Amino acid sequence: MQDLAPRPEDLDPVERASVDELQALQLERLRWSLRHAYTSVPHYRAAFDAAGVHPDDCKDLAGLAKYPLTTKADLRENYPFGMFAVPREQVVRIHASSGTTGRATVVGYTRDDLDVWASVMARSIRAAGGRPGHILHNAYGYGLFTGGLGAHYGAEKLGCTVVPVSGGMTERQVTLIRDFRPDIIMVTPSYMLAIVDEMERQGDDPAASSLRFGIFGAEPWTNEMRREMETRLGIDATDIYGLSEVIGPGVAQECVEAKDGLHIWEDHFYPEVIDPLTGEALPDGEEGELVFTSLTKQAMPVVRYRTRDLTRLLPGTVRPMRRMRKVTGRTDDMIILRGVNLFPTQVEELIMRIPVLSPHFQLHLTRDGRMDQLAVHVERRPGTTGSDTADAGSQLTTLIKNTIGVTVTASVLEPESIERSVGKMRRIVDHRPR
Ligand code: DLL
Repeated sequence: MQDLAPRPEDLDPVERASVDELQALQLERLRWSLRHAYTSVPHYRAAFDAAGVHPDDCKDLAGLAKYPLTTKADLRENYPFGMFAVPREQVVRIHASSGTTGRATVVGYTRDDLDVWASVMARSIRAAGGRPGHILHNAYGYGLFTGGLGAHYGAEKLGCTVVPVSGGMTERQVTLIRDFRPDIIMVTPSYMLAIVDEMERQGDDPAASSLRFGIFGAEPWTNEMRREMETRLGIDATDIYGLSEVIGPGVAQECVEAKDGLHIWEDHFYPEVIDPLTGEALPDGEEGELVFTSLTKQAMPVVRYRTRDLTRLLPGTVRPMRRMRKVTGRTDDMIILRGVNLFPTQVEELIMRIPVLSPHFQLHLTRDGRMDQLAVHVERRPGTTGSDTADAGSQLTTLIKNTIGVTVTASVLEPESIERSVGKMRRIVDHRPR
């Protein structure tokens, strides 16, 4: 594995900094960012004033915990451009995430912001194994979604040859991979699975493809899914994390030589983990909701932005920056079934323990009287028969009961019967009356 690590001289200087150097830089940038938000965005001025705090009160990094949290609702209330901290003419790019409910969340970037974004994305791709000269197949969606363009400019900055395919037209994805022989693919893990299936359908052996590295993110996925993709494709797969409100992809990235969680590019995005119920800051190591404060963003600084993603912070290893564990799920995707909390990633882990089951699954929630019911729909693997999978449903039900502690029904379906995503997969279908 060691040869996958970048040469020290190719790293950004901050990737070789000491923790003390990193923290000194963070404090200086944090104080700038709090002042910038307070002086330029009416929302932050009002929120700081209401909480009785001023940017000058922040004397150390722990002092950030005094400042008010920011939520998606705050961004929505200031739709579309009310959170911008620079005159609109200096905003050279807009992105937006549609979300499942209500107004889109709009984000903006100055030219310098785009440079920072491309730099953290280039750093991420390099950490994943990418090198100048590699061909990179980019199947993240281009458009208002930050995935496509975010990956695109980072890959160009690193010196890759980018194939800007975007999502969809799965047959063509396979043709382009066969013909252009990319080294790297960037795509959501669920759409990667659809592409691998299509390779097999077209008679190609995915493990014999030119691909060597996969950079998967934008939705939760498990280490079990990593093994599936690494084995089927003969690649090294790493996790990339980000969200539009903070910048887009490139907030955190796993390093291919360690695959031990995602290093947060803390020189630009300062992480905290809070108790999602009380809002209290938790010590590193404890599981809770991830919160970010931008340290360098000009157009749209965020102060203590609640991501709703659940994870924990761990110390740095192959880089000085702290790591976050793979995201378990979003607080909004947590199913509470008869008092037990359950995330789709937990079901994914268990499905992947049963060899005849494919990783294509969806959870359906219904209400029967006053009781919520959960049905797991999962496809059997192509090449298996109905009799191979006769016991798989009850096996899965038992595993879920014994591991998570809830009773669900599991149906094993024919291959290709569950909707495929070309981007983020909808794991939960909620049929309960509103
Ligand atoms: O999904 C940005 C992105 C694009 C990240 C491409 C990685 C790759 P949004 O559409 O704003 O931005 O959605 C952000 O997606 O709060 C998480 O809930 C989820 N998410 C993103 N990356 C991961 C990941 C992009 N690696 C929301 N693991 C976040 C788990 C992820 N969830």
